[in-house]
Amino acid sequence: MKIFNTKQEIKSFLHTQGEANKTIGFVPTMGALHEGHLSLIKKAKKKNDLVVVSIFVNPTQFDNKEDLVKYPKTYKNDTKLLESVSCDVLFFPSVEEIYAGNISSEKFNFDGLENQMEGKFRDGHFDGVGTIVKNLFEIVTPNKAYFGQKDFQQLQIIKKMVKKHHLNIKIKGCAIYREKDGLAMSSRNTRLTKEHRTAAPFIYKTLKKVRANINTKNATKITEWVEKQFKKHPSLELEYFTIADEKTLESIKNKESDKKYRAFIAVFAGEIRLIDNIRLKTN
Ligand code: PAF
Repeated sequence: MKIFNTKQEIKSFLHTQGEANKTIGFVPTMGALHEGHLSLIKKAKKKNDLVVVSIFVNPTQFDNKEDLVKYPKTYKNDTKLLESVSCDVLFFPSVEEIYAGNISSEKFNFDGLENQMEGKFRDGHFDGVGTIVKNLFEIVTPNKAYFGQKDFQQLQIIKKMVKKHHLNIKIKGCAIYREKDGLAMSSRNTRLTKEHRTAAPFIYKTLKKVRANINTKNATKITEWVEKQFKKHPSLELEYFTIADEKTLESIKNKESDKKYRAFIAVFAGEIRLIDNIRLKTN
């Protein structure tokens, strides 16, 4: 695996690969890699000549300073995992290399997608994500880029950005990777206490019950039910739960037959914030 720390080096390497007509699959990450990331890389390997992974803990997308400082950094283990799935190129730049002394975000208009759910609770988060992803796309110039559906709102926002900025990149959304007990894989899971790790699968269990009830109860009733379950829970605190249209991400009260819906949730397990979502099959 080739490792680059500067924009100039990776650009010049990828330029020669492009000249040789090699297709590039890109998996942007913030490191602390787990099976979920590896599944994206394996998918990318099947469909592209060359797979590039970036590891960059992007400061502009953190609204919570402590979360940024405590974000797990496991570079040595990450490189081992990347070698194990035959990743071709790792881009591992410094904050200075990316932001050149100006750690700030570009302002984006994602046609309102940015104002729903995470946007209401994480100030400036999606401007930060848009800024870094656009920047990385310019450096890596991928043909395809791969994102997990755990961050479904992020995925829709990146698709919107690619469309609005006329970028010639195919965005691939990949299924959520779960632990055996159903907890969605996340780099932040390693920071859960034993008690919270034991409690956390309750999130997916609740989502599965929502999915089972979507055709017999309306969205308001289901939301009230979920809120009640978390009020009773001794160690998990619900931040939000909503049933929303997959395309607009707007919360709904009543279903319409031709639309696709998902249930979205954010929960605090102690100081760790966990998000998850599930596709709902309506009839
Ligand atoms: O999903 C993530 O890990 C990050 O938001 C991303 C896409 C790598 C941008 O920093």
